[in-house]
Amino acid sequence: MSPNKLKGCELHILQNLYNENNKPIGVFDSGLGGLTAVKELKKVLPNESIVYFGDTGRVPYGTRSKSTIIRYASQDANFLLEKGVKLVVAACGTVSSSAKEELSKLPVPYIDVISPTAQAAVRATKNKKIGVIGTGATVKSGSFNKAISALDSDILVISQACPLFVSLVENGFIEEDNEVTILVAKKYLQNIIEAGVDTLILGCTHFPIIAPVIRKVMGEKVTLIDSGKETARYVKEIILKENLENKGASPSYSYNVSDDTENFKNIAEIFLQGEIDGEVERIDIGKYKRNVGGAD
Ligand code: DGL
Repeated sequence: MSPNKLKGCELHILQNLYNENNKPIGVFDSGLGGLTAVKELKKVLPNESIVYFGDTGRVPYGTRSKSTIIRYASQDANFLLEKGVKLVVAACGTVSSSAKEELSKLPVPYIDVISPTAQAAVRATKNKKIGVIGTGATVKSGSFNKAISALDSDILVISQACPLFVSLVENGFIEEDNEVTILVAKKYLQNIIEAGVDTLILGCTHFPIIAPVIRKVMGEKVTLIDSGKETARYVKEIILKENLENKGASPSYSYNVSDDTENFKNIAEIFLQGEIDGEVERIDIGKYKRNVGGAD
């Protein structure tokens, strides 16, 4: 049937169906942490659909080798591509630090947390002393340090791996007065406090969930930079710049995990600070290709 034989509403439905801009944004993380970015994305881009993948069956990534992180991240991104996303966001400091080269080969725009977060920290610091906390893999990669130095080589960066924070968050040890989390935070943050930083990058997307504890330990004067939030703002910039805005169909959300959906649902609501507003499905991530654009 030619378009001029279609009624107005049918034409609208067809246009929506073929409009690339109506495709969802793909967001992934090793587990629940990336939901801190999803929460912000929903605020700054309320018309966009989102497909989320949390690799809850293989979390944590931060204690693994670079080659394993690249393999997992490629499978995560390939799953999102199969869902027809228009853009892929690695809402994970660990993946962003270890798999940039591989994920930059994706056939859709790829955004990670490093550059937007480093830019926000450089804007915020007054005394040119920035702390970075993240997983072991993130700190070992020096990704934030390099991005900050490239923006301002006079800035002193002090980093600290805080791997236990990830387990504490995934297991719900998140209350502001949680004694275990406070104790761990005091231990981890001691060197950073002694260095006198005025800005602290939460370089792992799990960490904003325990921001109140981190704030208590760091003191009120230190500016905390939330990598998920900064990345969501940057995604908006790219969507506008590349003319990728969804102007048609109403947004929808879907959440996918590689382990039990019930556990995910319970903790996800804390991350999203609201009810889960979409289907939660368990998928077999092992069946997706282990590299980007290659044969396997
Ligand atoms: N949310 C992930 C990150 O931003 C990390 C947790 C992990 O898998 O170790 O680094």
